[in-house]
Amino acid sequence: MAPDSAPPRAPQRAPDRATCAVIPAAGFATRFLPATKTVPKELLPVVDRPVLQYIVEESAAAGLSSVLLITGRGKTSMVDHFDRRPDLEAVLAAKGDQARLDAIRRPSELADIYTVRQPEMLGLGHAVGYAEAHVGGAPFAVLLPDEFPEPSDPLLSRMLSLQQHTGGIVLAFLEVPDDQVNRYGIGSVEPADPALGAPKSTVRVTGLVEKPALADAPSNLAVIGRYVLPSGIFDAIRRTKPGSGGEIQLTDAMALLLAEGTPVHGVIHRGVRYDTGVPLGYLQAVVQLACQRDGLGPEFKRWLAGFLAGD
Ligand code: UTP
Repeated sequence: MAPDSAPPRAPQRAPDRATCAVIPAAGFATRFLPATKTVPKELLPVVDRPVLQYIVEESAAAGLSSVLLITGRGKTSMVDHFDRRPDLEAVLAAKGDQARLDAIRRPSELADIYTVRQPEMLGLGHAVGYAEAHVGGAPFAVLLPDEFPEPSDPLLSRMLSLQQHTGGIVLAFLEVPDDQVNRYGIGSVEPADPALGAPKSTVRVTGLVEKPALADAPSNLAVIGRYVLPSGIFDAIRRTKPGSGGEIQLTDAMALLLAEGTPVHGVIHRGVRYDTGVPLGYLQAVVQLACQRDGLGPEFKRWLAGFLAGD
């Protein structure tokens, strides 16, 4: 028992767990032109719903209750998808089409949606900086809206738990072939402290470099589009000068915090990753998810097998 003179112990408070997902979606999507000249790539349909709905579903499944979309010119239609459509709902209700009624209501039920505009496309780090007024001093997740894991994959949830534990930065890594290291932020890593009790696929990050030449790449671990960040990132972004491509890079802001002692960990993602930001990855996502979709998959697979066999 503590002696009478001991000061009263402050109640133990669990560290904050992120509750907000920030989705930077202001970019030009040049790799998918001309489709994306007027249609945001986030609204391209994968089977029967826009890519962005998969991302918001992923964030809701991980327990994030609010979503901040960072938008720009020509991107506002993205927000409408998460709004109610009473006129359309009335038509479907009159027809008794409950399945479609549920489907069009679902996006508005996933999370509270907020938006902020990035007035100039000065880079991912610059875009994330616009989230500061919304997230305040709490940690938050960043989800890039042109890639997502298998919908049942708990990647984001694992990252959120790890960040709550360390209070630092948590990244997701994908092992990429040598000829792709110059397209990503690449991490130098070492085994994570066993005291963390994290799965073996968790690593401690000791360095980060944006789009290195193969000869300079410290590993093949590429940073993919899921991050859980402490609020200190905003100050780091302000102190980050334009880097690769003349843009204010999120990788550079994270590297600054790392150099100043913020713990940085990575979760190596070994499952499927759909990359809908380029035509090939988009087509792969559509085919794979169509094959899995109830009520569509078996017939689609039969057709696909016949098509590939040259029927
Ligand atoms: P990308 O580098 O993939 O750029 O940005 P992009 O414009 O989407 O696509 P490409 O490369 O020209 O084909 C990664 C994410 O960061 C957002 C993008 O919208 C994308 O979701 N972003 C990037 C911004 O919101 N603002 C920026 O200034 C830059």
